[in-house]
Amino acid sequence: MTNPSPKKVALVTGASSGIGAVYADRLAARGYDLFLVARRADRLEALCTQIAKAHGVKAEPIVADLTQEQDVARIETIVATQGDLQILVNNAGVARLAPAAQTSANEALAQINLNITALTRLTQAALPAFLTRKQGLIINIASALAVHSLPISAIYSGTKAFVLQYSRGLQQELADTGVKVQLVLPASTSTELWDLSGVPLAALNKDTLMTTEHMVAAALAGLDQGETITWPSVADASLWEKYEATRSALFAGTQAGKPAPRYQIA
Ligand SMILES: NC(=O)c1ccc[n+]([C@@H]2O[C@H](COP(=O)([O-])OP(=O)(O)OC[C@H]3O[C@@H](n4cnc5c(N)ncnc54)[C@H](OP(=O)(O)O)[C@@H]3O)[C@@H](O)[C@H]2O)c1
Repeated sequence: MTNPSPKKVALVTGASSGIGAVYADRLAARGYDLFLVARRADRLEALCTQIAKAHGVKAEPIVADLTQEQDVARIETIVATQGDLQILVNNAGVARLAPAAQTSANEALAQINLNITALTRLTQAALPAFLTRKQGLIINIASALAVHSLPISAIYSGTKAFVLQYSRGLQQELADTGVKVQLVLPASTSTELWDLSGVPLAALNKDTLMTTEHMVAAALAGLDQGETITWPSVADASLWEKYEATRSALFAGTQAGKPAPRYQIA
């Protein structure tokens, strides 16, 4: 008699729409039971019912506002103590695209609280248990705007640059531990994020827009190929290698211990 295959569980934040909802479906198709986190209970419940029926897995809605202390703490506890958790998808995020001077401090902080603080807290909560079990995968959804600022994206780009640097640092710290971090940097993807952001989806160049299905399929294909950093829409993979080489040379150039000659300081 063979042992039943061990239970596999994934937790996806921001699963009530867009990229997160597709991740939930695709992970269920791979046999994962799910915890799906977002604020809209009706959407989460409908998705859980649909996914459970389609894929024969358990899918549990968890209604939480990840900008609220008690709600984040509740999800941290699940992430830290759910012994079967193998994948954490830090996907929940918002964009408020407007010049910083026209953005209130509260609006700026709401983006930072979700895109940076919640992602960091859930990652930090997952790490000790993942390290003890010597396995686990954290998928962090950043954005192509992690390496690009527009006049309306100073705050959003800043939050995604944090996700990029945090994830890259973690990947080095976690080398050889069995715990993995995949960083995904989508470009424009057709979701509700745009209409909520202040830049309507209809205003975007359709040729630059990816579907959520294609975005998640590419990200999971990258994961299956062992990528730690996935640019779903970038055809020329050598661009990232060149960017990294230049970034690394720039950092090496900072290690001089004296002002650069062009400043002519005696
Ligand atoms: N769409 C793009 O072009 C694009 C490009 C690059 C990166 N991304 C990133 O992809 C991720 C997913 O976004 P999306 O495009 O799929 O947009 P979306 O359809 O608007 O999804 C955002 C998700 O986050 C959840 N969410 C928002 N505020 C929350 C809060 N306070 N607490 C808990 N959950 C919250 C939303 O659910 P509720 O409203 O039900 O809470 C929703 O499920 C984000 O991190 C985004 O920055 C998107």
